[in-house]
Amino acid sequence: MAQEGAFVVVADLNLASAQATSDAIAAAGQTSVAAQVDVGNSPQVQDVVQKALAHNGRIDVIVNDAAMMTFTPIVAIAEADFFKVLTTNLGSVFFFAKYGAPHMPPGSAFVNVSSVHAFATTLNVVPYASSKGAIEAFTRGFALEMQSRQIRVNAVAPGSVDTPMLWNNPNVKSGVEKPTGAIGKPEDLAAAICFLASDDARFVNGATLLADGGRLAALP
Ligand SMILES: NC(=O)c1ccc[n+]([C@@H]2O[C@H](COP(=O)([O-])OP(=O)(O)OC[C@H]3O[C@@H](n4cnc5c(N)ncnc54)[C@H](O)[C@@H]3O)[C@@H](O)[C@H]2O)c1
Repeated sequence: MAQEGAFVVVADLNLASAQATSDAIAAAGQTSVAAQVDVGNSPQVQDVVQKALAHNGRIDVIVNDAAMMTFTPIVAIAEADFFKVLTTNLGSVFFFAKYGAPHMPPGSAFVNVSSVHAFATTLNVVPYASSKGAIEAFTRGFALEMQSRQIRVNAVAPGSVDTPMLWNNPNVKSGVEKPTGAIGKPEDLAAAICFLASDDARFVNGATLLADGGRLAALP
């Protein structure tokens, strides 16, 4: 986004990591600010929206990327842990839609990050897979609500991507889940997200773009 000329608010629970990304953007000659936010916390989301407005005056693109996973079977998982995944992964999409959209001009866009787990899944990740399936349904419905305001809402569903989420996944570590085929780089997903956010995708709305290097196309 920064390479495309955007002023970027890098918002993450981990402020040090958001700051490192923001510093890298600044070092490349673009503008950015880091912010700490728990995306599953409504007042904190409202604060970060205000922070973005204070820095830039308007919001053109919201990318809902933050997410978490649990690895406990449904009959064993604590209720609070189930709902924490739903609140972090799906509640965040709702909060940024509710509190971000009023400040977005015509031509703006949302990009929500789903997963191949919305289509096919592995053992013990039901909360995560449920949240990603719901994000895609939310994306379709919210796209309809935003159509009259000329704000597009799309999702991208990544396959395996070379980030801590992939390599810290106990199912991947144990071999229960085998990331078959290509492993994407974060830049590969950034390209798909930037496309959906851009005017090049002006006729794409309410859609989920599968960006998985062909993983779901192959029989295991
Ligand atoms: N890496 C993969 O293989 C893969 C595959 C499919 C989908 N995805 C999706 O891609 C997106 C990015 O994942 P990633 O691979 O970079 O994961 P990651 O775990 O490496 O990074 C997730 C980021 O989200 C932040 N975060 C977690 N909870 C938060 C909260 N409550 N508030 C604010 N920030 C919070 C973390 O601090 C971290 O910076 C996620 O939506 C994930 O579900 C990733």
